[in-house]
Amino acid sequence: MKATLSVNVNDQISKIDPRLWGSFIEHVGRSVYEGIYQPDHETADENGFRKDVIDAVKKLNVPVIRYPGGNFVSGYNWQDGIGPKDQRPVRLDLAWRSIETNQFGLHEFMDWCKKVNAAPDMAVNLGTRGIDEARNLVEYCNFPKGTYWSDLRRQNGAEEPFDIKLWSVGNEKDGDWQIGHQTAHEYGRLVHETAKVMRLVDDSVELVACGSSNHQNETYGDWEETVLEHAYDDVDYLSLHQYYDNYEDNLAEFLGKSVDFDNFISEVVAICDAVKARKHSDKQINLAFDEWNVWYHSVGADDESEPWGQAPHLLEDHYDFEDALLLGSLAISLMRHADRVKIGCLAQLVNVIAPIMTNEDGVWYQTIFYPFMQVSNYGQGVVLTPNQTVSTYQAKDYQVPYIDSIAVYNPDTAEIVVFIVNKAQEQMDFKLNIDNAELGPVVAATQFAGYDIHQTNEDQSMDLQMLEDVTVSGNQVSATLEPLSWNMIRIK
Ligand code: AHR
Repeated sequence: MKATLSVNVNDQISKIDPRLWGSFIEHVGRSVYEGIYQPDHETADENGFRKDVIDAVKKLNVPVIRYPGGNFVSGYNWQDGIGPKDQRPVRLDLAWRSIETNQFGLHEFMDWCKKVNAAPDMAVNLGTRGIDEARNLVEYCNFPKGTYWSDLRRQNGAEEPFDIKLWSVGNEKDGDWQIGHQTAHEYGRLVHETAKVMRLVDDSVELVACGSSNHQNETYGDWEETVLEHAYDDVDYLSLHQYYDNYEDNLAEFLGKSVDFDNFISEVVAICDAVKARKHSDKQINLAFDEWNVWYHSVGADDESEPWGQAPHLLEDHYDFEDALLLGSLAISLMRHADRVKIGCLAQLVNVIAPIMTNEDGVWYQTIFYPFMQVSNYGQGVVLTPNQTVSTYQAKDYQVPYIDSIAVYNPDTAEIVVFIVNKAQEQMDFKLNIDNAELGPVVAATQFAGYDIHQTNEDQSMDLQMLEDVTVSGNQVSATLEPLSWNMIRIK
């Protein structure tokens, strides 16, 4: 089979916002406890943070991390997680029906973010709490000193403000599982009023309103439109969430879900712009795809699990090879929409539907770690408008191209980097045509290929491999891609 990707260095979709490659830490399962925080672990530092996890997270180069939820935030009192640890209350976490010890809270998260070179995306509780708590939290975090909340922060050891720029205004408020679920009208009004007070405390904050919790949700579309009718002028971003599964064990259908992901983004952009037009507004709302991943392997076991555990093994999907292929495809879709999707959070980061897993012996990398590591490190610069020629196959709902590909130009490194997923069960003769560039040598070419689609990586036997025989001739790069493969080629 043959495929061509043609680009022109002067024809660009957009610069990639580095925050596209963010991630997510929620108080659920072993994400925090036994994940990033485990004071009795042999690698724990003076704060109780696992150094082996810090090293693994750094490899993923995540610039922003959403915290503390997720569903958890809709029942969380942030004050429970500040002050002397021996005075912090143990609470019921109703979202995940677990025990929350509050030994890790706001200050610990901010300290940990510094260790992994990430900025926070702080979520406020609009489930059991509301406007008052949101403004108190912004004051606690961002006001310099001389007020009740800012001085409490200083008393708790942080003299300087945390200066948190990015805030999620609630979580999945469209979902009836959410604590404090609301109608779009109720939530839109609440965002309007909450954003007002948050900005009155600190007018430099950037705010994300909740879009739909998935593309299939009954209220999808109407939700976005109604929320924006109320809060268009108050927020900067609208969120999207989406997880995919392969319960049917149908590879072609599963890999075709990237088309759904792509359509989801285009549709939400259209809704934002329709509201913009109706409001005669000059302002553009951009998107935060702040939960995306595959999630289903652990759902059955989680349904059976006993409630009220402390750091229970929840949402511990063990990802297989086909999951890595879909994840690569979704990442390519994010880049294709880099003009509007400015923030992305792979959900999640450690132990919970995560690329990084821990056990007592150390960390291990899931299959999805590898494509994510490559896009987060090399999916930087500007995205070149793709012109892809390849045949397609018919899935239930979509025509699916046999490859997904994208090329980016990074002016800082003077490299062109191309990412390609080959979804065909046969080799692909791939050509990349690049106009308006003087191509030098191939700097590196790797593939993730040759594994059984259901192979998982607990034994760490899976890894990226060299992609041999990539050639450059004139303005054309040629490569033979293995069947079912994730590929990255860097050219100077
Ligand atoms: O990431 C796991 C959960 O998925 C989050 O808590 C919630 O926002 C979503 O439904």
